[in-house]
Amino acid sequence: MRERDMAHFPGSFPTTRMRRLRQAPWLRSMVSEHVVSVSNLVLPVFIREGNGLREPIDSMPGIERISIDVLLETAREARDLGIPSIALFPHTPEEVKSADGREAVNPDNLVCRAIAALKNRVDDLGVLVDVALDPYTTHGHDGVMSGDEILNDETVDILVRQALVQAEAGCDIIAPSDMMDGRIGAIRRALDDAGHARVAIMAYAAKYASGFYGPFRDAVGSAVSLGHGDKRTYQMDPANSDEALREVALDLEEGADMVMVKPGMPYLDIVRRVKDTFGVPVFAYQVSGEYAMLEGACRNGWLDRDRVWNEALVSFMRAGCSGVLTYHALELARRL
Ligand code: PBG
Repeated sequence: MRERDMAHFPGSFPTTRMRRLRQAPWLRSMVSEHVVSVSNLVLPVFIREGNGLREPIDSMPGIERISIDVLLETAREARDLGIPSIALFPHTPEEVKSADGREAVNPDNLVCRAIAALKNRVDDLGVLVDVALDPYTTHGHDGVMSGDEILNDETVDILVRQALVQAEAGCDIIAPSDMMDGRIGAIRRALDDAGHARVAIMAYAAKYASGFYGPFRDAVGSAVSLGHGDKRTYQMDPANSDEALREVALDLEEGADMVMVKPGMPYLDIVRRVKDTFGVPVFAYQVSGEYAMLEGACRNGWLDRDRVWNEALVSFMRAGCSGVLTYHALELARRL
């Protein structure tokens, strides 16, 4: 019900008793407005070179960097549990990083090999891949630099090539996470020209310059490279909300099929505004720092695991998300 209709139907005590519908589990479930199901989850996975390797990530208890053979097992389990798609994030060996991140456009890089392996060996599972240079640059930024400046148009040219090698390898969804201006349009045109009209774009449209990405940068090994640098000249100011709507409008105009808001829980107001304004599929990324906070507290016994994870994930659905990228996806799917 819209707020304005509610004014005509206020109800009043004692005729109206809100607790009447909360009496029993069956009744609560009958009037429940939102639910998280496995089909709403996207599983982000950190991958690395090697064989048979599972390497824990200190700041993300329970999450590991895994080699491609292990990834195939994880992917099959995710698919069998009903998770529709997984998102790949490479931990790039230092020796292949460079100032211009050229490993990003190598058709035989770790991510492309992982995409091909998944597409050849695991049916019925969507593969989503980031477009951004930070896993590949020595300075840890998402684009190429001149002095202290992150160059927009030069970066977009490289991102287009990165998107093309990933599409060529077979990925289903390209997810530009770099926040350069104009990259969605450039990538869409290039994909179409190269015969990849089927490849969808999920734009990280409203991506904020957030402290909550800390553990992710450890996981992909870009934290050391970035050092004390930050991404405030391209990612959004956490204080802004109207600006997110402009970002989303531009990305949709340029051809995005779906948009993402990131981080997740601190930005649910943005999800709701985007959903109400545009009515397109909106996803949220419950990022590494959010995972670390919740899981860390649960592991210390300070929070009740099942309850807080469910509560956190249903909050995304209530805010208007079509789905959530969450490191907790596999755990939740096992439990549901
Ligand atoms: C790379 C990228 C980042 C995340 C996803 N893609 C980090 C960043 O922008 O610095 C963060 C995800 C997370 O924290 O879980 N552009």
